[in-house]
Amino acid sequence: MGDTATRPWVLVTGASGGIGLELAKRFARDGHPLALTARSGGALEAAARALVALGSPRAEAIALDLSEPEGPATLAAELARRAIAPGILVNNAGYGLLGEFAELPLDDELAMARLNVVAVIELTKRLLPGILAAGRDGGILSVASTAAYQPGPYMATYYASKAFVLAWSEALAEELAGRTRVTCLCPGPVPTGFQARAGFADGIPLNSGLLPLTRADRVARAAHAAFRRGRRVVVPGLLNRTGAVAVRALPRAAAAKIVARLQRQRADRPASRGATKEAGR
Ligand SMILES: NC(=O)c1ccc[n+]([C@@H]2O[C@H](COP(=O)([O-])OP(=O)(O)OC[C@H]3O[C@@H](n4cnc5c(N)ncnc54)[C@H](OP(=O)(O)O)[C@@H]3O)[C@@H](O)[C@H]2O)c1
Repeated sequence: MGDTATRPWVLVTGASGGIGLELAKRFARDGHPLALTARSGGALEAAARALVALGSPRAEAIALDLSEPEGPATLAAELARRAIAPGILVNNAGYGLLGEFAELPLDDELAMARLNVVAVIELTKRLLPGILAAGRDGGILSVASTAAYQPGPYMATYYASKAFVLAWSEALAEELAGRTRVTCLCPGPVPTGFQARAGFADGIPLNSGLLPLTRADRVARAAHAAFRRGRRVVVPGLLNRTGAVAVRALPRAAAAKIVARLQRQRADRPASRGATKEAGR
Protein backbone atom coordinates (compact mmCIF):
# COMPACT_ATOMS: atom_id res chain seq x y z
CA MET A 1 0.00 0.00 0.00
CA GLY A 2 1.16 3.58 -0.63
CA ASP A 3 1.71 6.19 2.05
CA THR A 4 -1.20 7.75 3.89
CA ALA A 5 -1.36 10.83 1.66
CA THR A 6 -2.08 8.75 -1.43
CA ARG A 7 -4.28 6.05 0.05
CA PRO A 8 -7.39 5.52 -2.04
CA TRP A 9 -10.95 6.08 -0.93
CA VAL A 10 -12.66 2.96 0.36
CA LEU A 11 -16.41 2.55 -0.23
CA VAL A 12 -17.99 0.23 2.33
CA THR A 13 -21.60 -0.84 1.76
CA GLY A 14 -23.53 -1.86 4.86
CA ALA A 15 -21.19 0.20 7.05
CA SER A 16 -23.75 1.18 9.71
CA GLY A 17 -23.03 -1.89 11.87
CA GLY A 18 -21.94 -5.53 11.99
CA ILE A 19 -19.15 -6.82 9.77
CA GLY A 20 -19.20 -3.74 7.50
CA LEU A 21 -18.47 -1.32 10.33
CA GLU A 22 -15.64 -3.56 11.59
CA LEU A 23 -14.14 -3.69 8.08
CA ALA A 24 -14.40 0.11 7.87
CA LYS A 25 -12.48 0.38 11.18
CA ARG A 26 -9.64 -1.69 9.70
CA PHE A 27 -9.32 0.64 6.71
CA ALA A 28 -9.65 3.71 8.98
CA ARG A 29 -6.70 2.52 11.08
CA ASP A 30 -4.70 2.25 7.83
CA GLY A 31 -5.45 5.91 7.12
CA HIS A 32 -7.85 5.50 4.19
CA PRO A 33 -10.59 8.06 3.52
CA LEU A 34 -13.94 6.28 3.70
CA ALA A 35 -17.31 6.52 1.98
CA LEU A 36 -19.94 4.72 4.04
CA THR A 37 -23.35 3.63 2.88
CA ALA A 38 -26.42 1.91 4.37
CA ARG A 39 -30.04 2.97 4.90
CA SER A 40 -29.62 4.30 8.48
CA GLY A 41 -28.34 7.88 8.16
CA GLY A 42 -27.93 8.48 11.91
CA ALA A 43 -25.88 5.33 12.45
CA LEU A 44 -23.73 6.18 9.43
CA GLU A 45 -23.01 9.70 10.69
CA ALA A 46 -22.00 8.26 14.09
CA ALA A 47 -19.81 5.67 12.36
CA ALA A 48 -18.17 8.39 10.25
CA ARG A 49 -17.19 10.36 13.39
CA ALA A 50 -15.83 7.23 15.09
CA LEU A 51 -13.81 6.25 12.01
CA VAL A 52 -12.18 9.69 11.77
CA ALA A 53 -11.25 9.35 15.45
CA LEU A 54 -9.64 5.99 14.57
CA GLY A 55 -7.43 7.50 11.88
CA SER A 56 -9.41 8.02 8.69
CA PRO A 57 -8.59 11.45 7.22
CA ARG A 58 -12.19 11.83 5.98
CA ALA A 59 -15.35 9.77 6.31
CA GLU A 60 -18.48 10.56 4.28
CA ALA A 61 -21.92 9.09 4.99
CA ILE A 62 -24.33 8.44 2.13
CA ALA A 63 -27.68 7.03 3.29
CA LEU A 64 -29.63 5.11 0.67
CA ASP A 65 -31.31 1.79 -0.06
CA LEU A 66 -29.21 -0.39 -2.35
CA SER A 67 -32.09 -2.83 -2.84
CA GLU A 68 -33.98 -0.17 -4.79
CA PRO A 69 -33.50 -0.64 -8.55
CA GLU A 70 -31.93 2.85 -8.83
CA GLY A 71 -29.87 2.50 -5.60
CA PRO A 72 -26.46 1.64 -7.09
CA ALA A 73 -26.72 4.28 -9.85
CA THR A 74 -27.80 6.90 -7.30
CA LEU A 75 -24.84 5.99 -5.09
CA ALA A 76 -22.39 6.23 -7.99
CA ALA A 77 -23.83 9.63 -8.94
CA GLU A 78 -23.59 10.88 -5.35
CA LEU A 79 -19.96 9.75 -5.10
CA ALA A 80 -19.16 11.59 -8.34
CA ARG A 81 -20.96 14.72 -7.07
CA ARG A 82 -18.71 14.64 -3.98
CA ALA A 83 -15.63 14.04 -6.20
CA ILE A 84 -15.02 10.66 -4.56
CA ALA A 85 -13.57 7.95 -6.83
CA PRO A 86 -13.16 4.84 -4.65
CA GLY A 87 -10.08 2.74 -5.31
CA ILE A 88 -11.30 0.01 -2.97
CA LEU A 89 -14.86 -1.32 -2.95
CA VAL A 90 -16.15 -3.39 -0.05
CA ASN A 91 -19.35 -5.15 -1.17
CA ASN A 92 -20.68 -6.04 2.27
CA ALA A 93 -24.36 -5.02 2.54
CA GLY A 94 -26.65 -8.03 2.52
CA TYR A 95 -29.23 -9.97 4.44
CA GLY A 96 -30.94 -13.34 4.57
CA LEU A 97 -34.54 -14.51 4.87
CA LEU A 98 -35.54 -17.66 6.72
CA GLY A 99 -38.63 -19.46 5.48
CA GLU A 100 -40.14 -21.69 2.84
CA PHE A 101 -39.65 -20.40 -0.68
CA ALA A 102 -43.33 -21.06 -1.37
CA GLU A 103 -44.32 -18.75 1.49
CA LEU A 104 -41.77 -15.92 1.62
CA PRO A 105 -43.17 -12.72 0.08
CA LEU A 106 -41.99 -12.20 -3.50
CA ASP A 107 -41.12 -8.53 -2.91
CA ASP A 108 -38.85 -9.46 0.03
CA GLU A 109 -37.03 -12.12 -1.98
CA LEU A 110 -36.54 -9.79 -4.93
CA ALA A 111 -35.26 -6.95 -2.71
CA MET A 112 -32.78 -9.37 -1.12
CA ALA A 113 -31.60 -10.60 -4.51
CA ARG A 114 -31.18 -7.00 -5.73
CA LEU A 115 -29.07 -6.14 -2.65
CA ASN A 116 -27.04 -9.37 -2.39
CA VAL A 117 -26.43 -9.87 -6.11
CA VAL A 118 -27.52 -7.08 -8.47
CA ALA A 119 -26.10 -4.18 -6.42
CA VAL A 120 -22.78 -6.05 -6.12
CA ILE A 121 -22.53 -6.45 -9.89
CA GLU A 122 -23.69 -2.93 -10.67
CA LEU A 123 -21.53 -1.09 -8.12
CA THR A 124 -18.46 -3.07 -9.10
CA LYS A 125 -19.07 -2.42 -12.79
CA ARG A 126 -19.65 1.31 -12.26
CA LEU A 127 -16.64 1.77 -9.96
CA LEU A 128 -14.19 -0.55 -11.74
CA PRO A 129 -12.38 2.21 -13.71
CA GLY A 130 -11.48 3.98 -10.44
CA ILE A 131 -10.48 0.69 -8.82
CA LEU A 132 -8.17 -0.20 -11.71
CA ALA A 133 -6.75 3.35 -11.70
CA ALA A 134 -5.67 2.77 -8.08
CA GLY A 135 -3.37 -0.03 -9.32
CA ARG A 136 -1.88 -2.20 -6.63
CA ASP A 137 -3.45 -0.05 -3.90
CA GLY A 138 -6.95 -0.78 -5.19
CA GLY A 139 -9.20 -3.80 -4.96
CA ILE A 140 -12.59 -5.39 -4.44
CA LEU A 141 -13.52 -7.16 -1.21
CA SER A 142 -16.90 -8.88 -1.37
CA VAL A 143 -18.71 -10.60 1.49
CA ALA A 144 -20.25 -13.98 0.68
CA SER A 145 -20.70 -16.62 3.42
CA THR A 146 -20.00 -20.25 4.22
CA ALA A 147 -23.60 -20.53 2.93
CA ALA A 148 -21.99 -20.24 -0.51
CA TYR A 149 -20.66 -23.80 -0.31
CA GLN A 150 -23.95 -25.76 -0.35
CA PRO A 151 -27.64 -25.44 -1.21
CA GLY A 152 -29.71 -23.88 1.60
CA PRO A 153 -33.27 -25.14 1.89
CA TYR A 154 -35.47 -22.68 3.86
CA MET A 155 -32.98 -19.91 2.99
CA ALA A 156 -32.79 -20.92 -0.66
CA THR A 157 -32.41 -17.51 -2.28
CA TYR A 158 -29.96 -16.29 0.36
CA TYR A 159 -27.63 -19.31 0.08
CA ALA A 160 -27.77 -19.13 -3.71
CA SER A 161 -27.05 -15.39 -3.65
CA LYS A 162 -23.89 -16.07 -1.64
CA ALA A 163 -22.88 -18.92 -3.99
CA PHE A 164 -23.14 -16.32 -6.74
CA VAL A 165 -20.92 -13.82 -4.88
CA LEU A 166 -18.23 -16.46 -4.26
CA ALA A 167 -18.15 -17.83 -7.83
CA TRP A 168 -18.34 -14.35 -9.36
CA SER A 169 -15.58 -13.00 -7.13
CA GLU A 170 -13.29 -15.95 -7.90
CA ALA A 171 -13.91 -15.41 -11.62
CA LEU A 172 -13.12 -11.69 -11.38
CA ALA A 173 -9.98 -12.48 -9.39
CA GLU A 174 -8.74 -14.51 -12.34
CA GLU A 175 -9.79 -11.97 -14.99
CA LEU A 176 -8.24 -9.07 -13.12
CA ALA A 177 -5.10 -10.86 -11.86
CA GLY A 178 -2.12 -8.53 -12.02
CA ARG A 179 -4.39 -5.48 -12.35
CA THR A 180 -6.13 -5.37 -8.97
CA ARG A 181 -6.88 -7.48 -5.89
CA VAL A 182 -10.17 -9.37 -5.68
CA THR A 183 -10.97 -11.08 -2.37
CA CYS A 184 -14.09 -12.92 -1.23
CA LEU A 185 -14.84 -13.18 2.50
CA CYS A 186 -16.90 -16.22 3.55
CA PRO A 187 -17.79 -15.87 7.24
CA GLY A 188 -19.55 -18.55 9.24
CA PRO A 189 -22.09 -17.44 11.85
CA VAL A 190 -21.30 -14.01 13.32
CA PRO A 191 -23.51 -12.36 15.96
CA THR A 192 -24.73 -9.14 14.27
CA GLY A 193 -28.02 -7.62 13.18
CA PHE A 194 -28.16 -10.42 10.57
CA GLN A 195 -29.96 -13.01 12.74
CA ALA A 196 -32.88 -10.76 13.74
CA ARG A 197 -33.37 -9.52 10.19
CA ALA A 198 -33.30 -13.07 8.82
CA GLY A 199 -35.99 -14.07 11.32
CA PHE A 200 -33.94 -16.42 13.54
CA ALA A 201 -35.59 -16.91 16.91
CA ASP A 202 -32.73 -18.56 18.67
CA GLY A 203 -29.55 -16.63 18.10
CA ILE A 204 -26.93 -18.76 16.41
CA PRO A 205 -27.49 -22.47 17.04
CA LEU A 206 -25.14 -23.35 14.18
CA ASN A 207 -22.18 -22.11 16.16
CA SER A 208 -18.74 -22.65 14.69
CA GLY A 209 -17.35 -23.66 18.10
CA LEU A 210 -14.46 -21.17 17.79
CA LEU A 211 -16.22 -18.24 19.37
CA PRO A 212 -13.40 -15.67 19.21
CA LEU A 213 -13.13 -16.16 15.45
CA THR A 214 -16.83 -15.65 14.87
CA ARG A 215 -16.90 -12.14 16.34
CA ALA A 216 -17.37 -9.44 13.72
CA ASP A 217 -14.08 -7.73 14.63
CA ARG A 218 -12.15 -11.02 14.26
CA VAL A 219 -13.81 -11.74 10.93
CA ALA A 220 -12.94 -8.24 9.73
CA ARG A 221 -9.34 -8.62 10.88
CA ALA A 222 -8.95 -11.88 8.95
CA ALA A 223 -10.62 -10.41 5.86
CA HIS A 224 -8.51 -7.26 5.92
CA ALA A 225 -5.29 -9.27 6.28
CA ALA A 226 -6.30 -11.58 3.41
CA PHE A 227 -7.20 -8.60 1.21
CA ARG A 228 -3.87 -6.92 1.91
CA ARG A 229 -2.08 -10.10 0.91
CA GLY A 230 -4.20 -10.42 -2.24
CA ARG A 231 -5.78 -13.75 -1.28
CA ARG A 232 -8.80 -14.72 -3.36
CA VAL A 233 -10.94 -16.38 -0.67
CA VAL A 234 -10.88 -16.17 3.11
CA VAL A 235 -12.99 -18.32 5.46
CA PRO A 236 -12.26 -17.15 9.03
CA GLY A 237 -12.23 -19.86 11.71
CA LEU A 238 -10.75 -23.34 11.60
CA LEU A 239 -14.08 -25.16 11.89
CA ASN A 240 -15.67 -22.99 9.23
CA ARG A 241 -12.74 -23.72 6.88
CA THR A 242 -12.96 -27.43 7.64
CA GLY A 243 -16.70 -27.41 6.99
CA ALA A 244 -16.32 -25.56 3.70
CA VAL A 245 -13.82 -28.18 2.50
CA ALA A 246 -15.68 -31.21 3.92
CA VAL A 247 -19.02 -30.32 2.35
CA ARG A 248 -17.46 -30.70 -1.10
CA ALA A 249 -17.05 -34.41 -0.43
CA LEU A 250 -20.80 -34.83 0.20
CA PRO A 251 -23.38 -35.37 -2.53
CA ARG A 252 -25.22 -32.05 -3.00
CA ALA A 253 -28.55 -33.70 -2.09
CA ALA A 254 -27.10 -34.93 1.21
CA ALA A 255 -25.75 -31.45 2.01
CA ALA A 256 -29.19 -29.99 1.22
CA LYS A 257 -30.85 -32.43 3.64
CA ILE A 258 -28.45 -31.47 6.45
CA VAL A 259 -29.05 -27.74 5.92
CA ALA A 260 -32.82 -28.35 5.69
CA ARG A 261 -32.79 -30.04 9.09
CA LEU A 262 -30.84 -27.19 10.68
CA GLN A 263 -32.97 -24.46 9.13
CA ARG A 264 -36.23 -26.23 10.04
CA GLN A 265 -35.15 -26.07 13.69
CA ARG A 266 -34.85 -22.30 13.34
CA ALA A 267 -38.09 -22.00 11.40
CA ASP A 268 -39.97 -23.97 14.09
CA ARG A 269 -39.30 -21.09 16.47
CA PRO A 270 -40.01 -18.10 14.24
CA ALA A 271 -39.13 -14.63 15.48
CA SER A 272 -40.94 -11.51 14.38
CA ARG A 273 -39.68 -11.18 10.84
CA GLY A 274 -37.37 -8.28 10.12
CA ALA A 275 -37.36 -8.83 6.38
CA THR A 276 -39.43 -5.83 5.52
CA LYS A 277 -37.91 -2.41 6.02
CA GLU A 278 -38.14 -1.29 9.62
CA ALA A 279 -39.68 2.11 10.26
CA GLY A 280 -37.19 4.96 10.38
CA ARG A 281 -34.50 3.18 8.40
N1 LIG B 1 -23.77 -12.39 10.50
C1 LIG B 1 -23.58 -13.57 9.93
O1 LIG B 1 -23.76 -14.65 10.55
C2 LIG B 1 -23.09 -13.62 8.50
C3 LIG B 1 -22.52 -14.81 8.05
C4 LIG B 1 -22.06 -14.89 6.74
C5 LIG B 1 -22.18 -13.79 5.91
N2 LIG B 1 -22.74 -12.64 6.36
C6 LIG B 1 -22.84 -11.51 5.44
O2 LIG B 1 -22.14 -10.41 5.98
C7 LIG B 1 -22.65 -9.20 5.43
C8 LIG B 1 -22.86 -8.20 6.55
O3 LIG B 1 -23.88 -8.71 7.40
P1 LIG B 1 -23.85 -8.51 8.98
O4 LIG B 1 -23.77 -9.85 9.59
O5 LIG B 1 -22.85 -7.49 9.38
O6 LIG B 1 -25.35 -8.00 9.20
P2 LIG B 1 -25.92 -6.62 9.77
O7 LIG B 1 -25.35 -6.32 11.10
O8 LIG B 1 -27.41 -6.76 9.62
O9 LIG B 1 -25.38 -5.54 8.74
C9 LIG B 1 -25.91 -5.40 7.45
C10 LIG B 1 -25.51 -4.07 6.88
O10 LIG B 1 -26.11 -3.93 5.57
C11 LIG B 1 -26.91 -2.73 5.56
N3 LIG B 1 -28.08 -2.92 4.71
C12 LIG B 1 -29.09 -3.80 4.90
N4 LIG B 1 -30.02 -3.64 3.96
C13 LIG B 1 -29.58 -2.63 3.15
C14 LIG B 1 -30.11 -2.00 1.99
N5 LIG B 1 -31.30 -2.37 1.47
N6 LIG B 1 -29.40 -1.01 1.41
C15 LIG B 1 -28.21 -0.62 1.94
N7 LIG B 1 -27.66 -1.18 3.03
C16 LIG B 1 -28.35 -2.17 3.62
C17 LIG B 1 -27.29 -2.53 7.03
O11 LIG B 1 -27.59 -1.18 7.31
P3 LIG B 1 -29.08 -0.57 7.30
O12 LIG B 1 -29.95 -1.56 8.00
O13 LIG B 1 -28.89 0.73 8.00
O14 LIG B 1 -29.43 -0.40 5.87
C18 LIG B 1 -26.01 -2.90 7.72
O15 LIG B 1 -25.09 -1.84 7.68
C19 LIG B 1 -23.92 -9.59 4.66
O16 LIG B 1 -23.64 -9.65 3.28
C20 LIG B 1 -24.23 -10.98 5.19
O17 LIG B 1 -24.94 -11.76 4.25
C21 LIG B 1 -23.20 -12.53 7.65
